[in-house]
Amino acid sequence: MEMKLHTFFSSVLILLLCFCRPASAQICRSYNGFATNQVFAACVDHPVLNTFLHWTYNPSNTTLRMAFRRPSTSPNQWISWAINPQGLAMFGSQALIAYRNSSALPHVYTSSVDPPGPTLQQSTLRFAVPDLSATYVNNELTIFATIRLPSNMKTINQVWQVGPMIGGSPSSHSLAEENRASRSKLDLLTGSSTAAEDTVLKKRNIHGVLNAVSWGTLMPIGAIFARYLRAFKGADPAWFYLHVACQSSAYAVGVAGWATGIKLGRDSTAVQYDTHRNIGITLFVFGTLQVFALLLRPKKDHKYRIYWNAYHHSVGYSVIVLSIINVFKGLDILRPDEKWKRAYTGIIIFLGAVAVVLEVITWIIGIKRKRTSSDDKFRNNNNGQNGV
Ligand SMILES: *[C@@H]1O[C@H](CO)[C@@H](O)[C@H](O)[C@H]1NC(C)=O
Ligand SMILES: *[C@@H]1O[C@H](CO)[C@@H](O)[C@H](O)[C@H]1NC(C)=O
Repeated sequence: MEMKLHTFFSSVLILLLCFCRPASAQICRSYNGFATNQVFAACVDHPVLNTFLHWTYNPSNTTLRMAFRRPSTSPNQWISWAINPQGLAMFGSQALIAYRNSSALPHVYTSSVDPPGPTLQQSTLRFAVPDLSATYVNNELTIFATIRLPSNMKTINQVWQVGPMIGGSPSSHSLAEENRASRSKLDLLTGSSTAAEDTVLKKRNIHGVLNAVSWGTLMPIGAIFARYLRAFKGADPAWFYLHVACQSSAYAVGVAGWATGIKLGRDSTAVQYDTHRNIGITLFVFGTLQVFALLLRPKKDHKYRIYWNAYHHSVGYSVIVLSIINVFKGLDILRPDEKWKRAYTGIIIFLGAVAVVLEVITWIIGIKRKRTSSDDKFRNNNNGQNGV
C-alpha cells in the first residue's frame, strides 16, 4: 500500500512538473560559451534559422548590449541581425552582418537595408553603434554589439537572416519558409517575443472560413431542408422558413466572405487565381439572383410557378455545385493543414450521405402516399358513401 501511494504521489509530482514548466524553456539560458566571457541579462531562442539572441538593456542610458550567435555556420555563410524601426520587414532594417572572410577571420559591419535593393553594402546605421565585433569558434559565428537606441524604443522589431557567400561577399538569402518567418517583436525589458503576424495569411484564413461555412456548408444544408423536409406531413411551412433562414444567413455571411476575397484579389498583384475568382463572382451573382427570386416568387397555384420553380432549382443547384468546387479550389490555393481539407471533405460526404438516405425515404413515403390515396379512392368508389 505504502509503495502504491508513493508511486501515486510521484506520478502526480511528475505530472505537475510537466505542466508547471514554462512553455518557453529557452535553450539559450544554459549557454555559457562566449569567448569573451560576457554575461547577458536575457536571451531568446529564435524560432527559425537556428539562431540565438542574448542581451542586456540598460534603460537609464537606453543602451542595448547584445550578442547574436549561430552554431553550425559554415565558412561560406553570412549571418545578420537587425532592428527595423519601420516594421517587421526587410526594408528599413538596421542590420549587423558577419561572415568569415578570406583571411579566415570573422568580419562584421553595419548596413542600412534600403530600397531598391538589399545590396548588403556597408553603410552607417540610424543608431549609434559604439562597439561592434565578431567571433568564429567551433563553427559558431557570433556578432557582439552595443547599440544606442532612441529613448522610446523599449520594444524592437527584430529581423534576422542567414545567406550564402558568393565570390567573397554576402549574396541574396533563400526565400524558403524559414527565411521569411525570421522576424518578431521583442520586448527588451520583459524578454517576451511575439512572432511576426502574417496579416495576409490571417485575412486569407478568415476568407476561407467565412466562405466554407456559408457557401460551402450552410447553402447545401438549406437545400436539403427544402428538398426533403417537404415530404413529411406537418413540416409545411416549417421547411420553408428553415430553408429561407438557412439560405439568407448563408448569403449574408457569404457576401462578407466574398468581399474579403475581392479585397484579397485586389491586394495580390503578384499572383492571380482567375478560376477561383471567376467562380466566386458567378456565385455572388447567382446568390443575389436567388434573393430576388424569393421576393418575386408567384403564388403556389399561379400558372408561372412551375417556370419559377425550374429557374429557382437550377440556379440553386448550380450555386451548390460551384460553391463546393470553389471551396476546394480555395483550399488548394491556401494550402492549410491537411486536416482542414479532410474536415471539409468529411462534411460534404456526410451531407451527401444524408441527402441519399433522405432521397430514399422520401421516395418510399411518396410511393406509400400514392398507394394509400389510390386505395382510398378505390374504397370510396366501392361503397360510394364517403366520396368528397
Ligand atoms: C550605460 O549604462 C551602463 C550601466 O550604468 C554602463 O555599464 C554602460 O557602459 C553605459 N553605456 C553607455 C554606452 O554609456
Ligand atoms: C577579414 O576581416 C578582418 C576583420 O574585419 C579584417 O581585419 C581583414 O582585413 C579582413 N581580410 C580581408 C582579406 O578582407
